[in-house]
Amino acid sequence: MKKNIVIAIDGYSSCGKSTLAKTLAQKLNYIYIDSGAMYRAVTLYFIRQNVDLISHEAIVTALKDIDIDFDSRDYQSHVLLNGEDVSEEIRQMHVSQLVSQVSAINEVRQSMVKQQQKMGKQKNIVMDGRDIGTFVFPDANLKLFMTADPKTRAERRYKEAQAKGENISLEAVFDNLAHRDFQDTTRLVSPLVRANDAIVLDNTNLNQAEQLAFAMAYLPKNL
Ligand code: DC
Repeated sequence: MKKNIVIAIDGYSSCGKSTLAKTLAQKLNYIYIDSGAMYRAVTLYFIRQNVDLISHEAIVTALKDIDIDFDSRDYQSHVLLNGEDVSEEIRQMHVSQLVSQVSAINEVRQSMVKQQQKMGKQKNIVMDGRDIGTFVFPDANLKLFMTADPKTRAERRYKEAQAKGENISLEAVFDNLAHRDFQDTTRLVSPLVRANDAIVLDNTNLNQAEQLAFAMAYLPKNL
């Protein structure tokens, strides 16, 4: 049986991973899966239900009540939390502030990784996240590790927030990114680290077309 194709895109927060992953998926007619959105949806559920983050039991019980799905018809990765479209709310600051802490919880990761691996068995996918090339799909057909200058990343995220009318300062965005980088790279379970066989893509000075061309150039020819 032919194995499904997996393209893994990992990297720091607000590096443009999802933009590249989406365009790549569209170009190749693969399914785009935003693994960060899954951790964000879990975080939102925990906030709403006031789940005690240091209680193993509370976490395991809550995870059983969470169903996460994607409506990926238009590559906009609408995320459904128990059937409710939470795509907008999971991007808001109250979720961003807690998501790194929630995604460092072992039980949460085990549950998400299991679902992600299942998705990769069903379709050809492009998945972005932090541990996709190292842990979720160590045999991925192509692994990219994205990075960019922290100031540039904060400015990009700030512009996005402004366009959405969010009331937040550039400084607060910068601090949130720095804090998440720290938590993501230093956590005990599957920290963010470049896989040995991942290709580094620093997009500080690259536009979207250039990033797509870069990724396409590394795509194995026999796919
Ligand atoms: O990509 P993002 O910023 O939406 O991800 C939100 C958080 O989820 C991020 O702080 C780290 C975590 N995450 C993770 O631990 N593993 C993944 N595969 C994807 C995201």
